[in-house]
Amino acid sequence: MLTGLQIRTLSTCVKTLRKVSPNDLKSKIKGVSSQHWLSRQLSDPYVEKAKRMNYRCRSAFKLVEIDDRFKILHPGHVVVDCGASPGSWTQVAVKRVNSDGANQTLAKGTVCSIDKQHIYPIEGAVIFGNMDFTAPESQKSLTDFLNDEKVHAVLSDMAPNATGIRELDNENMLKLCYAVLRFAVQVSRKEASVLVKMWQCGSTKKLEADMARFYDNVKVVKPNSSRMDSAEIFLLGRNFKGLKDS
Ligand SMILES: C[S@@+](CC[C@H](N)C(=O)[O-])C[C@H]1O[C@@H](n2cnc3c(N)ncnc32)[C@H](O)[C@@H]1O
Repeated sequence: MLTGLQIRTLSTCVKTLRKVSPNDLKSKIKGVSSQHWLSRQLSDPYVEKAKRMNYRCRSAFKLVEIDDRFKILHPGHVVVDCGASPGSWTQVAVKRVNSDGANQTLAKGTVCSIDKQHIYPIEGAVIFGNMDFTAPESQKSLTDFLNDEKVHAVLSDMAPNATGIRELDNENMLKLCYAVLRFAVQVSRKEASVLVKMWQCGSTKKLEADMARFYDNVKVVKPNSSRMDSAEIFLLGRNFKGLKDS
């Protein structure tokens, strides 16, 4: 018998859901909360839509919504996607910056995707799989690849593994956010954007204020595709002011 947690880790990805029939899953899942999660997953229109559009995850629509609204990704842009596995944000970014060169009349962009888990290849993306973004050597691999080319957008949908202790989880999330912010200010060109996932908590205002030191415009965004019962929010910084020496 599978536990709820095992099912959850296996099934956030649409591909996995496709391979296992819902009835099989239902009969194997123990616990009310897991059954609730599965029912929600099966009736979620974004899960269905992701399947139809060949996105690896429903998360794709969060980036689609944010970018439709704020237009941070354009053909020719250089983008770093942190916490990219299984890869739906990368799929969206590749199309929007044309890093697969699908449209030959538009500038061809670059997408670098990093995750501590494996990422299956995505045409048009340079994959840095099995790498902890917070490790200095991982960031060096990214900057070596970029070879001084400045970035237009740093995206992060990273989330730490939940410990179940809310304060600790929030602290770990905040550490990831600051790691992204520190990296972004080092590698970004002027007027670049940063998009960071965060959990609504007492530290949101502080992070927002710290982002505003480097970005002219900072907004808290909650896309419709982000579940209402989730504490997840996104902080979007636009118009990077640049560092004195950049
Ligand atoms: C919600 S998932 C990202 C989904 C992805 N945006 C997509 O659309 O497919 C969060 C990811 O963050 C990754 N992650 C968490 N901490 C990380 C770290 N320190 N370095 C790299 N990846 C990390 C996890 O492995 C996980 O794959």
